[in-house]
Amino acid sequence: MRAVITLLVLLLSMCGSQTWSTQTDLHTESQSTGAAAEVSTQLDISAELRELRDMVGELRVTLSFTRDELQNTKDLLNKIEVENDAVKQRLVASETEVVNLRKEAAAQTADLRSVTERLAVTETDMEHVKKDTEAQHTDLTTVKTEVMSLIKEQAAQEAELVVLKTRMDTGEAQVETRLSASETEVEKLKMEHAAQEAELTAVKTRLAATETEVVNLEKEITEKPKVAFSAALTAPIEAGNTDLNLVFTKTITNVRQAYSNITGFFTAPVKGVYYFRFTVMDHLNSRRMYIMMFKNGEKVMHLTEYDTDGHASYLSSGVTLQLEVGDVVNMRLPAGSRLYDDSRNHSTFSGFLLFTL
Ligand SMILES: *[C@@H]1O[C@H](CO)[C@@H](O)[C@H](O)[C@H]1NC(C)=O
Ligand SMILES: *[C@@H]1O[C@H](CO)[C@@H](O)[C@H](O)[C@H]1NC(C)=O
Repeated sequence: MRAVITLLVLLLSMCGSQTWSTQTDLHTESQSTGAAAEVSTQLDISAELRELRDMVGELRVTLSFTRDELQNTKDLLNKIEVENDAVKQRLVASETEVVNLRKEAAAQTADLRSVTERLAVTETDMEHVKKDTEAQHTDLTTVKTEVMSLIKEQAAQEAELVVLKTRMDTGEAQVETRLSASETEVEKLKMEHAAQEAELTAVKTRLAATETEVVNLEKEITEKPKVAFSAALTAPIEAGNTDLNLVFTKTITNVRQAYSNITGFFTAPVKGVYYFRFTVMDHLNSRRMYIMMFKNGEKVMHLTEYDTDGHASYLSSGVTLQLEVGDVVNMRLPAGSRLYDDSRNHSTFSGFLLFTL
């Protein structure tokens, strides 16, 4: 740029000198009139022309330099523009980075806030801990005082211990004598103990046997067959010309269902000893009532009752029977006789197993 300005200045100065020279011509022409003067003037002009030509040559050289310089400057400019682009790209990248960093900074600020809050809490805790520590210091002082008094007490106890040791040494001899006596006694007791132990073992054996027996007995009891029944008549009943098998139709109890309220027969479900009993009723007005018990069709009992007042009379008895499985027992009403009953269970027949055989 500076080169261009220089060139312009030169050109301007050149024009100025030309103007000046024309004025000189005019001036010269108006002033002089002689030939000698004219020749001298022509010589001056030629010299001036030559001088101007040289100047133009110089200017051309300068111009060529200036052009080169201009080209260099352009190249430099291009290079700078390329560099500028690179810088712009880096700037964009940096800006993106700045945005990211800002976000990070925001996150860190939040963290910092939470840390600050926690720090505040911790500080509060610290305050508490300090207070506790102070309290503990006070306690420690108390404990120290206590320890001092304990040390004193210990010294006193040690003194007492010395006294006691002396007394113990004296007593030791006596104790030894008594100890040997005791040892003899212990030996004796040991022997006694051994004898007692043997006895205990025997008792234990017997106890175990008894326990087994108890268990077996319990089993026997729980596994024992259970047979029992009671049944009643429901209305008056009368035998015709023949004996009548009585059917006590109203079952009161019938464990194991050995009694039939349809036939009136009890059938032994197991071999054993059973007990049977009955009660029958009638209103007797100078009249007899009869009742019979049968086992397997054979008469076991044949009883009678007589009364005159017309009020209720009862006839009752019982018998123990040994039965085989399937043996039957029942009650019979002899021909021509009658019994009374209603809903009140006046006339009943009962039986139960005493034990099995
Ligand atoms: C007769 O015996 C059967 C069977 O044990 C029983 O279900 C029924 O109730 C008995 N009848 C009466 C009237 O007790
Ligand atoms: C007679 O026996 C039956 C059956 O056990 C019973 O329901 C009834 O109440 C008895 N009758 C009376 C008057 O007790």
